[in-house]
Amino acid sequence: MSTSTVIRGGLVITASDETHADILMEDGRIAALAASHTPAAEALTAERTVDATGKYVIPGGVDAHTHMEMPFGGTFAADTFETGTRAAAWGGTTTIVDFAVQSVGHGLREGLDAWHAKAEGNCAIDYAFHMIVSDVNEDTLKEMDLLVEEGVTSFKQFMAYPGVFYSDDGQILRAMQRAADNGGLIMMHAENGIAIDVLVEQALARGETDPRFHGEVRKALLEAEATHRAIRLAQVAGAPLYVVHVSATEAVAELARARDDGLPVFGETCPQYLFLSTDNLAEPDFEGAKYVCSTPLRPKEHQAALWRGLRTNDLQVVSTDHCPFCFSGQKELGRGDFSKIPNGLPGVENRMDLLHQAVLDGHISRRRWIEIACATPARMFGLYPKKGTIAPGADADVVIYDPAAEQVISADTHHMNVDYSAYEGKRVTGRVETVFSRGVPVVTDRKYTGHAGHGAYTPRSTCQYLT
Ligand code: URP
Ligand code: ZN
Ligand code: ZN
Ligand code: ZN
Repeated sequence: MSTSTVIRGGLVITASDETHADILMEDGRIAALAASHTPAAEALTAERTVDATGKYVIPGGVDAHTHMEMPFGGTFAADTFETGTRAAAWGGTTTIVDFAVQSVGHGLREGLDAWHAKAEGNCAIDYAFHMIVSDVNEDTLKEMDLLVEEGVTSFKQFMAYPGVFYSDDGQILRAMQRAADNGGLIMMHAENGIAIDVLVEQALARGETDPRFHGEVRKALLEAEATHRAIRLAQVAGAPLYVVHVSATEAVAELARARDDGLPVFGETCPQYLFLSTDNLAEPDFEGAKYVCSTPLRPKEHQAALWRGLRTNDLQVVSTDHCPFCFSGQKELGRGDFSKIPNGLPGVENRMDLLHQAVLDGHISRRRWIEIACATPARMFGLYPKKGTIAPGADADVVIYDPAAEQVISADTHHMNVDYSAYEGKRVTGRVETVFSRGVPVVTDRKYTGHAGHGAYTPRSTCQYLT
């Protein structure tokens, strides 16, 4: 569809600037920007004009950590690529980077093909893939090179989940060495899974079966230890490192120290660690299961270190780790044994709003909001400036955001395919009004106008912080 649109009068916010500007979108791209109420702006004309006076105009969000239809714990994450990307659009996110999974004993290519098959023709917004490497061997190391060449430039490894996704230190080192060679970025789930499994067994033997014990056995120190080990392994390999879902003060300290030493080490946190805590995990009547994810939610005191890390750039990205499981029938698999609760929280729809609320709460600036949610994830994963900013030539992924609208987050009104909200009843100020994906309106004045299949697969270049 080659329609053109001008968005007039909004406050255009990018990671670097805030200006009142009119934006011309043509053929799926940003064609021009001009300061509002100037002759240059009046010269911008299009088939359609949208008035954004009093609103923010921001780049579509880039959520670099989602798990649509992810198999986990004998079940599958409840959002498909269709429902999950639609919910993302509702929340102002226009690109996801999801994790294709290699199963042990199978190849990377096979896993990637399977994820392409799930996503193709089903997405409302653009998508790309990281690859979960669960089985490091000569063949998979070679396949890593091929994947980097075709635009899958980041690889997640797990120091947790022995017997499932787990890699030992030797396998991690080998993959890191390969990444150092081929330009890939290793993403690490940094928790000492071997030690955690011992603590899980001991807790269950004591009859400690409730969801809150998930938080107690997955200790902050075991996140910090694994983070430290991952950093040192990456240093030995001469590879960059991106640590996913950082939740503990002690882990942030490890990242900060490494960065002070000049190492190419990056960190991501997620809204659940910024807004929720072990108080949620301790909710009675098994309700705590709704908040079981790994790394786990931490005591509230850890939140200050995460916010500080986001301000000081020791943490660079906020992604959701969207991996929803319904309370009914899925989270319930772990009644009587917290270790059987499928790990993961819904959130792809809530990230932009929660981080806008963080602006109002004084944790971050408006531009930092766009930086951690749009620009940096795009740069980190080789999508910039196509994604993550508003500039001539960029994809016309643009959100008109009403900073004054009030909303109450609830499963009754959200669009994720999951029967609860992790933020049920939370009041936030700010709401997505209209969303363009490559110039096509996918949400229009809070009505869904997109469709499955609009979203295109988007191959990526390598991490743009390294060159
Ligand atoms: O609990 C989580 N985070 N589930 C998704 C898988 C992962 O480790 O990111
Ligand atoms: Zn196979
Ligand atoms: Zn993980
Ligand atoms: Zn994840």
